[in-house]
Amino acid sequence: MNTQSPPRFDPTRVPHLLGPFAPVSEEVDVEELEVVGRIPDGLDGMYLRNGPNPRFTPIGSYLYPIDGDGMVHGVRLSGGRARYRNRFVRTPAMAAEEKAGRALWGGLESMVTPDADQVGPLLAGTFKDLPDINVVRHAGRMLALAESACPYRIDAELATLGREDFDGALPAGITAHPKIDPVTGDMVVFCYALEPPYLTWSVIGRDGAVTRGPTPVDGADEPVMIHDMALTGRYVVLVLAPAFFDLRAAAAGGSFLAWRPERGTRVALVPRDGGPVRWAEGEAFWLWHTVNAYDDGVGADSAVVLDYVEWSRLTLGSGGEGNGGGAGEVTGGPARARIDPASGTMSRTLLDDCRVEFPRIDDRLLGRPHRHAAFATGTGRADLLPGEYDAVRWYDTATGASRVWPAGDLAVGEPVFAPEPGSGSEEHGYWLTFATDRTDGTSWFLVFAAEEPESGPVARARVPVRVPLGLHGCWLPSDGG
Ligand SMILES: [Fe+2]
Repeated sequence: MNTQSPPRFDPTRVPHLLGPFAPVSEEVDVEELEVVGRIPDGLDGMYLRNGPNPRFTPIGSYLYPIDGDGMVHGVRLSGGRARYRNRFVRTPAMAAEEKAGRALWGGLESMVTPDADQVGPLLAGTFKDLPDINVVRHAGRMLALAESACPYRIDAELATLGREDFDGALPAGITAHPKIDPVTGDMVVFCYALEPPYLTWSVIGRDGAVTRGPTPVDGADEPVMIHDMALTGRYVVLVLAPAFFDLRAAAAGGSFLAWRPERGTRVALVPRDGGPVRWAEGEAFWLWHTVNAYDDGVGADSAVVLDYVEWSRLTLGSGGEGNGGGAGEVTGGPARARIDPASGTMSRTLLDDCRVEFPRIDDRLLGRPHRHAAFATGTGRADLLPGEYDAVRWYDTATGASRVWPAGDLAVGEPVFAPEPGSGSEEHGYWLTFATDRTDGTSWFLVFAAEEPESGPVARARVPVRVPLGLHGCWLPSDGG
């Protein structure tokens, strides 16, 4: 009999609840931010970013980057002026916790759920919705997205409207990284589950109606975690790394994910026309994020080029999203895979051994060849936590060259591209992100010009409250873009 009690969870010692990651509790409106430099007049719209921000002090456990309640931060730009607002993504579980005045649900790894006496029969024994990873707009819906569950719909003022199951067509939800095809307007999504079917994909048309309900991916016959996907004109690209859900280990107090490198990494090319799935296999690697993908060649056997951020193994928690931290050496960097559906093979090339994450392109090129990609990156300092970056790096895939802007004491987030209005070129536009000074907690909204981003921001808007480091966001031009 095991009489050893598990170590007590102490939230004051969790790095991802401290410093620039520490959650904020206030919902704030600031009508006009102080701007250093000049916000381009043509930038008219809203920049949104989601991220984990527990409403109350966590109990049981805290796993970065998945645990935590969602908080969306928004900067509305118009006429060279910037307005700021932040709001929690209000779930029924959060409402119950607000009524209680404390956390009732434990972190994912603690498996603690409240009983009916605490939260009523509907919420009793349920897992908490965690729409804290990403935020997108499609078919007029603004969605705060969870790792793999129903998203929550929010309005233009960032108020929560409720859980979105797409008129009941996608009851199990979707993952946090859907892909919107800029040509067709379709939003292609996937969902993974612990029970069969383990992996499904669906399509939401440009008018918001589900045109393909959950469709099992043939050959995906075990439960693995898949954080991101890619899309080409022909294929949904799903990378199945050997990160297996292991509930038996979790029940015994271990991790609910097991890394089994001997199983290799498999890539499913799922024809968007519903044809048979094509599989390719290779050595084990892990990816949190794709950069983009596209078809190379014509005809049924055209290859797929997939750009992504490669890690040598799963990194989670203390070795979390986008870091080489944690136990054992982790290597990686921006990478390109060429996947041949005819032979079922893939070749991979590491483009750089630089630590990067949060890759973004001009979203208008999603599914087609892109030239430029931006990443958050590190300058090499040793004290950065997973998810903490102190520079922005831009790669030119045509020349292989990269440009970097070191951010000094600022911790920077994911760079998001805002096109120059009226220009169809990825060369002309702006890169947007939040940054927080790790020495004094001051926060900024940064605007870089795409032509020469390494020169640093052309505008910095001072946010008078701290914006905790977060995850993913988007630029929503006022003209619908
Ligand atoms: Fe992500």
